[in-house]
Amino acid sequence: MKLLVRIKRYDPEKDSKPYWASYSVEADPIDRLLDALNTIKWTQDGSCEKVTIEPLLGFPVIKDLVVDLDQFFAKYESIKPYLITYDSEPGTERLQSPEQRARYDEGTKCILCAACTSSCPSIWGNPDWVGPASIVNAHRFIFDSRDQDTAERLAILGKQEGVWRCRTIFNCADACPRGIHVTDLIEQVKRAIVYNEQ
Ligand code: SF4
Ligand code: F3S
Repeated sequence: MKLLVRIKRYDPEKDSKPYWASYSVEADPIDRLLDALNTIKWTQDGSCEKVTIEPLLGFPVIKDLVVDLDQFFAKYESIKPYLITYDSEPGTERLQSPEQRARYDEGTKCILCAACTSSCPSIWGNPDWVGPASIVNAHRFIFDSRDQDTAERLAILGKQEGVWRCRTIFNCADACPRGIHVTDLIEQVKRAIVYNEQ
């Protein structure tokens, strides 16, 4: 099959701004997109299927498809994405029931790909917003029965750049390659802040 691949190109040393370039490429149905990128060549064939490739929206572009994710990971770190306990003896097991483990299972599937954050219109208009990926990872600890810093995480997410900038648009859930119900998890965090539901 033939693919028509549109790629947003940008070389800060040569280009004044990003531009779209089109390439036609022969591809096998089981090829990965990376294979197509590696074998791109020019043709003119109107029967091609269209594939559009551009850098993740909402992040500064470094070059071509490469974006700067420093701010993304700084926001991730801001919600303290690690287990915090104050009264457990070091080296002792922190037991949980299967039900307690299941309560935060959804968020553990996150691979920090940033697709949800990139797809969210709220972050396009406000790059300072913490974004859905950070909230998903905060959820994973807020609802972990062993964690003892829930109040601090909820305080962080209750601030101006926290969960309330989510407008329940659902792009994030559609974009997630892990099938995580991102919007649902965000709503659970909102309820935890307002009603103390954990
Ligand atoms: Fe995590 Fe899904 Fe968001 Fe990727 S899209 S960062 S897997 S929640
Ligand atoms: Fe954005 Fe998802 Fe909320 S797309 S506005 S984070 S529901």
